[in-house]
Amino acid sequence: MARTVWDSSVGKKTVMAVSGLIMLLYLVAHMIGNLKIFFGAGEFNHYAHWLRTVGEPFMHYEWTLWLIRVVLVVAVVAHATSAYQLSRRDIKARPSKYVHKKPRASYATRTMRWGGIILGLFIVWHILDLTTGTVHPGFQAGRPYQNVVDTFSTWYGNVIYIVAMLALGLHIRHGFWSAAQTMGVGSQARDRALKTVANVLALLLTAGFIAVPVGVMTGVVS
Ligand code: HEM
Repeated sequence: MARTVWDSSVGKKTVMAVSGLIMLLYLVAHMIGNLKIFFGAGEFNHYAHWLRTVGEPFMHYEWTLWLIRVVLVVAVVAHATSAYQLSRRDIKARPSKYVHKKPRASYATRTMRWGGIILGLFIVWHILDLTTGTVHPGFQAGRPYQNVVDTFSTWYGNVIYIVAMLALGLHIRHGFWSAAQTMGVGSQARDRALKTVANVLALLLTAGFIAVPVGVMTGVVS
């Protein structure tokens, strides 16, 4: 049964929609949490500490955090695998007159593909930058406020994050809309409403995330 669903295009699109939604919920929470930086180092660092102790005493230190990490990794892998397989299927299904020409995907497909690749690379950079500190000179474990200020005190930090956030906005805008279409046939009024929701969501997330580097660059956060 599970095999049949996974093998079908609708099954893969459903996997994309569900895993996308899980990541979207995470991003809404992450964006709101990040805005605590505007309330100062004490509140932001305290929040980061809470992320590790949430669920105690039932959960041990960092167990909830690790649970979230596992769910996110499963979601990213499922999302990327189904995207890749759907795009292979797309190319194979093309009529033979395209055989000697380079297959050309639609504008939306190409932006989603490149957006996805940019976001995948960004997530790796972001974890090495602000979680492990591997690519972050002077990283201080347990002092995320200072680490964030340091990241956005370099030109490349700002460029990497702002480009990624813009890619994120476009990806969510189109992804949310596609997911809604996979999940159900809509009336024109419903489609219009969903497009508005997709636009507002993408805009709020992008603006909320970009507020942090802008806050540091303007000296509001220092
Ligand atoms: C300006 C934008 C962002 C800022 C300032 C920011 C800040 C941070 C910080 C400070 C941490 C480390 C938290 C801690 O260890 O306590 C973190 C972790 C993380 N962020 Fe972001 N983030 C931003 C955007 C994003 C975006 C767009 C994504 C996903 C596309 C993302 C995904 C993650 C993930 C997956 C983690 C790792 C959580 C973990 O395993 O500990 N972040 N972020």
